[in-house]
Amino acid sequence: MPIDPNVGLGARRGRGVASLGISERIRRLCHALPRGPSIDIRASMSHEWQEPEHLANNRQEKPMLSHAMRERLADPAYLDLHLVASSILRDIQKVPWYDAHFLRRFAAARQYLQIVKPEALERFSAGFAKLQPPRDFSPIKLERLFSDEVHQRIRDTAASIPRDDLKDYETSDFGRLIYHDQPYFLELQRELVPLVSKLVGQKVETGYNFLSLYGGSGKCDPHMDEPVSMYTLDFCIDQGVNWPIYFSQIVDWPNVENLADWHPRQLLQDPKITFSSFELHPGEALIFAGSSQWHYRDSIPAGGYSNLLFFHYYPDGTHDLVNFEHWPRHFEIPELAPLCDLIAESSSDMAK
Ligand SMILES: [Fe+2]
Repeated sequence: MPIDPNVGLGARRGRGVASLGISERIRRLCHALPRGPSIDIRASMSHEWQEPEHLANNRQEKPMLSHAMRERLADPAYLDLHLVASSILRDIQKVPWYDAHFLRRFAAARQYLQIVKPEALERFSAGFAKLQPPRDFSPIKLERLFSDEVHQRIRDTAASIPRDDLKDYETSDFGRLIYHDQPYFLELQRELVPLVSKLVGQKVETGYNFLSLYGGSGKCDPHMDEPVSMYTLDFCIDQGVNWPIYFSQIVDWPNVENLADWHPRQLLQDPKITFSSFELHPGEALIFAGSSQWHYRDSIPAGGYSNLLFFHYYPDGTHDLVNFEHWPRHFEIPELAPLCDLIAESSSDMAK
């Protein structure tokens, strides 16, 4: 629903931040940040904005803000923090690689805490150390992960998924069709928890899994995964051609604020980053630390295909860390809630 661009912060229907008696620190920030058409204006208006009945009756699209968010925004203290959150989310650097949402949200949270609760920033940042693998971790090759019977059942299960059920939204970026969390694959993923825990040296729990069917336009640009897939077990079901995958050493998470005008392809010329090549053959698997190792594949050789199964794992007990919705409770920082609520509400604004 379009918003009248002439209705700005502090206007009749809005809540002028200067009028709320908020802390000087937040007030200064809200006035200092450049403004433009953005989610903060939409959000700050919407809790008092009444949609004309004739438009409401005809409108098909999803409402801009949930009813719950509108109710929260009626609280002036919540609104103050919401405005800080919306400014940060609007301006924070977009991250030019697949699966980068976590790092962007993590950076947003640190920026936000620096403003609204700086004394909690160090504790918050340090709390994510559990999502860092050992510095000397390197990919682990498994030459025969499953029996021939199980391998065949995996093939049959993959082949039984109707073509129309395969998702094609990664066709342009990856040249692959995907399918998430098939029940038999979930069962296998759970069965492998003890083995993966032993091999990576810490107890893990399951994230999501997906079947990845790369075709002749398969490729995978350099990227880092989200910590919900801190450890990935990549099983090769079948392939038509050898197709190496490259992994960097374990690296620190990049700070997205330093990545303006940067593309992960530049990593290939960075002397500080060393990539190692691995090949998978049908029946073999690799375990890697995808949220702390850059990884990529070049374009698949002509005529190639590769059917892979990805099982994702993260350290046991870190469910709250890998899911931003839980950060306020986990860290006992209720001031984080307006930021996390807004991320959840406007997740499309955080997309690459
Ligand atoms: Fe990845």
